[in-house]
Amino acid sequence: MDPIVSLRGVNHAFGEGATRRQVLDDVCADVLPGEIVIITGPSGSGKTTLLTLVGGLRSLQEGSIGVLGHELAGADHAALIRLREQIGFIFQAHNLLQALTARQNVEMALQVSAAHAGTDLRRRAVEMLDAVGLAGYADAYPRQLSGGQRQRVAVARALVRNPRLILADEPTAALDKHAGREVVDLLHTLAQERACAILLVTHDSRIVDIADRILTLEDGRLTSASSGLATHTEYVLNALQRRGELQRQAAMLPPPEFVRLLDGFSSEFEQLTRTLDSARDEVAGLLVDDTVDTIARKLRQVFRVERTSVYLMDADRRTLRSKAAWHNGARGLEVTVPVGVGPAGRTAATREPMNVALPPPGEALYGDVEPLRTLRAHSVITAPVFSADDEVIAVAELINRTAGGSFTAAERRSLEDIASELARVLRRCDALRAPGR
Ligand SMILES: Nc1ncnc2c1ncn2[C@@H]1O[C@H](COP(=O)(O)OP(=O)(O)OP(=O)(O)O)[C@@H](O)[C@H]1O
Ligand SMILES: [Mg+2]
Repeated sequence: MDPIVSLRGVNHAFGEGATRRQVLDDVCADVLPGEIVIITGPSGSGKTTLLTLVGGLRSLQEGSIGVLGHELAGADHAALIRLREQIGFIFQAHNLLQALTARQNVEMALQVSAAHAGTDLRRRAVEMLDAVGLAGYADAYPRQLSGGQRQRVAVARALVRNPRLILADEPTAALDKHAGREVVDLLHTLAQERACAILLVTHDSRIVDIADRILTLEDGRLTSASSGLATHTEYVLNALQRRGELQRQAAMLPPPEFVRLLDGFSSEFEQLTRTLDSARDEVAGLLVDDTVDTIARKLRQVFRVERTSVYLMDADRRTLRSKAAWHNGARGLEVTVPVGVGPAGRTAATREPMNVALPPPGEALYGDVEPLRTLRAHSVITAPVFSADDEVIAVAELINRTAGGSFTAAERRSLEDIASELARVLRRCDALRAPGR
């Protein structure tokens, strides 16, 4: 799946000479189609700068940014304008035009796009306002709407052109907790229905549970997914700190307000469950990465070989993905191999270990799978790794015995032992994942 947004080595600085300040430092990230990625980070860490670069609202100084299949490095002004038309933007202060009604604000987004000329703009704008729960407010002016309603108009305006990407900068910052939650839930639902990806910048730890992935910017650098965990943890700690609040408030409230309070609490519980679930998934994912990485290193230490790899099975896509391929001590590239192709792919298909001595000279081990196309081997062994349900979930592979010759029976047994240890750990990681995912 090609990413909708792809950032590689993005650097950005403001100012010159002594006042020059590096704001983004070698930022690399991808957003896949339909994915919701949240960027968090302290004030001044470069979040808005990054978002405006992706949106083509600021010119790229260094690195590469691909958005919806267009490269922004070296793109001219006209290309940037065309790109902006294909993106939905939502900002902290909704940016509605005060002199226009809600409907006219949404309709404007359609007018600038030639693709929609001739369609019934007014009808589409009204339908979109219905979808964000503002039926009946089409003729209201922004000043007649609450903050949450205005932000819903902004959501309608961003979505009305059916963009494949929405960029949102602190969309809940000007809203209270309840209104913020509503806007984000709405954005989440509507974007998912339309398979629209979202890149959303926020400080607001209460909304991170909608994210498929959380990235953290610190001093212009993206830190690993594990800092997403810190955000989840913060949310859980906040919830714990508020223990007792229900009892305190219950005593003072008349029944109808008490019912509303309970309602608020139950939706918070629901959100807490989702937060805990995504934290569990994140921990499980990190543990899998760590385990696979460690085992690939260990294989290199135990066996005298040129290359060791551990492939994880993606059963849906019928592919193997090497999470770690250690080659002469250096970290290799990530590789995706179709099931059935090459020794690891065949092991996944047949469930049998392989022992290939002396493959025909000059024959590519993995056909034309990049970047393995040039890999030449004189000896290969593999071992399958099974789940509790006896499915192949991973494959371990050793290539090119340094001493030459084929792998010994003892070496094959040793690899199978390590594979069954790997199976045990991977099953544990899987058990950690949130139920129903
Ligand atoms: N046009 C500009 N000229 C000079 N410096 C700028 C400009 N825009 C941003 N900066 C600086 O770049 C740094 C990053 O700013 P940015 O707005 O991207 O941060 P942010 O992470 O969005 O912060 P916040 O959470 O407060 O919105 C800040 O130190 C800011 O002062
Ligand atoms: Mg900002």
